[in-house]
Amino acid sequence: MLKQKRMDTRHRLAVFASGNGSNFEAIAAACADGRLDAQVVLLVCDRPGAYVCSRAERLGVETFVFRPKEYASKEAYEAEIVRMLDERGVELVCLAGYMRILSRVMLDAYGGRIVNIHPSLLPAFKGAHAIRDAFEYGVKVYGVTVHYVNDELDGGKIIAQRAFDYTGTDAEELEAMVHAVEHPLYVEAVAGLLAAGDR
Ligand code: GRF
Repeated sequence: MLKQKRMDTRHRLAVFASGNGSNFEAIAAACADGRLDAQVVLLVCDRPGAYVCSRAERLGVETFVFRPKEYASKEAYEAEIVRMLDERGVELVCLAGYMRILSRVMLDAYGGRIVNIHPSLLPAFKGAHAIRDAFEYGVKVYGVTVHYVNDELDGGKIIAQRAFDYTGTDAEELEAMVHAVEHPLYVEAVAGLLAAGDR
C-alpha cells in the first residue's frame, strides 16, 4: 500500500519526560507560535500521573504513557517506543527531564538524533541532582547544557551552553533561575539543529 503523504511539512519532534514538563511546554509553545518550524507529535512519559501529561492534554499533544514495570525489560518498552516514533516520522527526540538511561534499542534506532537538556555546565555535575550538587559545592557560576545523548550518562557531544552568576543562598530561587535559562536555550538549540538539517 502506498504511504500517505503528510500535508504538514513542519519538522516532527518527540519529547520524553518523567515529571513536571516545563521544558516540554517550552518546546510545544515554541512550535505553536512559530519560533520552531516543528510540531511535537508525541510525548513519551514513563510515569502515569506526571504533571507533564496534563500539560500535553491541555496542548493537544498525543501522549504515550507507560509503566516500565509492566514490560519484561527496558529493551521491550523501548522497542514499542521506537515503533511509535517510526510510525510518526519523528526526526528529533528531545529528552526533557526523562529520568531513565536509554538502552541500545533507542540509541541504535535514533542515535545522533536524540538530545537532552541538563541543568549544569557539563562536564561538571553530571547525574540526577545537578542543581543541588552544584549548590552544595558552592559554585558561583551555574548553567545549563544541551547535548547529544549517547551511552555515557550526560556524556554526549555538547550542542549549547549558557552560564549565569548566582551568589545567593536560596536553593529555590536558584532552581527557578536554572529553569528560566533552560527554556529559551533548549528552543534555540533545537531550532539550530533543525535549521542545520535543512541546509
Ligand atoms: C530540568 O532541570 C532538566 O534540565 C533536567 O530535568 C529537569 C526537568 O524539568 N534534565 P521540567 O520537567 O522540564 O520542568
